[in-house]
Amino acid sequence: MNRNPLSLRHSPRRLRRHPAMRGMLQENQLSPADFILPIFLVEGEGIRSEIVSMPGVFRHTVDSALRLCEEALVKGISGVLLFGVIEESCKDACGSASWDRDGLVQKAIRAIRAAYPALLVIADACFCEYTDHGHCGVLTADGDRDDNATLENLQRQVLSYAEAGVHVVAPSGMVDGMVSAIREALDAGCHTEVSILSYAVKYASAFYGPFRDAADSAPQFGDRRAYQMDPANRREAFRELDLDIAEGCDMVMVKPAMPYLDMVRDLRERCDLPVLTYQVSGEYSLLQAAARAGWLDLQRSVLESLLGMKRAGADAIITYYALDAAEWLG
Ligand code: PBG
Repeated sequence: MNRNPLSLRHSPRRLRRHPAMRGMLQENQLSPADFILPIFLVEGEGIRSEIVSMPGVFRHTVDSALRLCEEALVKGISGVLLFGVIEESCKDACGSASWDRDGLVQKAIRAIRAAYPALLVIADACFCEYTDHGHCGVLTADGDRDDNATLENLQRQVLSYAEAGVHVVAPSGMVDGMVSAIREALDAGCHTEVSILSYAVKYASAFYGPFRDAADSAPQFGDRRAYQMDPANRREAFRELDLDIAEGCDMVMVKPAMPYLDMVRDLRERCDLPVLTYQVSGEYSLLQAAARAGWLDLQRSVLESLLGMKRAGADAIITYYALDAAEWLG
């Protein structure tokens, strides 16, 4: 007689044998509605140019961005996050091109709202793509960031986005008081319906490398460690979170995603606001590079990385893989 030598009272594998059992008991799911697609905008018409350090991601003129928005909508993606990339000659020391009523992002917001009203339009609110020195705001004579002057400009910028019809503004400059300044400006301008997605917990990360190439926003000197968070810190994030909540933000974000999933979980447990996470450019490129070298299965590794963010507690994910992932899930 061939008897099982071991009587297993507890066997987690019993629940993994049948595919229907696995499907029924799956704890987290991905859906296209979880995704927000970042879009890099450039002036002009009919242009779509690939970003060298982010193969598969393009800079788009507004007409080309509209086609991308249509694809996003058809695939069930919730929204787009807009970044403007302007000519060097249009940049200045304070980034004033960013609050031009007929600026690139403002034009794109109007066009997308008109053509695809079902799509959520989110605009990144920062200055590094618009300043000639590449820092996220106005600088003092000795090269430090002048936060008061930066906040005033941020108010101008978000008002111009709100007037164009943006649904959500996403301040990413890690300026103390940015959420209050924005809420105040929006409410005073009668834009109480515009919500604020704060990059509450944004680390000074090497994973932004390809973005700075894409958005032409690398600092000309120094780095961003005087305003973005130290990757070593956890407690400090709770302080950032509490302040942003007190200042009236509607949603919070952890950025980057994959090296900071513990922070996504922490924020999820500490607050009742929606928590988003941003799978940044470097996370995109490293998966892309390994897949192109034949070292990783792109579809499986991307979906696994996104599912990990959901499991960590993210309500939504900003990802350059939004269109691909929605296609794979479809
Ligand atoms: C602008 C901004 C950055 C990113 C989003 N908004 C760059 C930075 O802080 O240097 C990075 C996004 C990415 O890497 O995909 N402040």
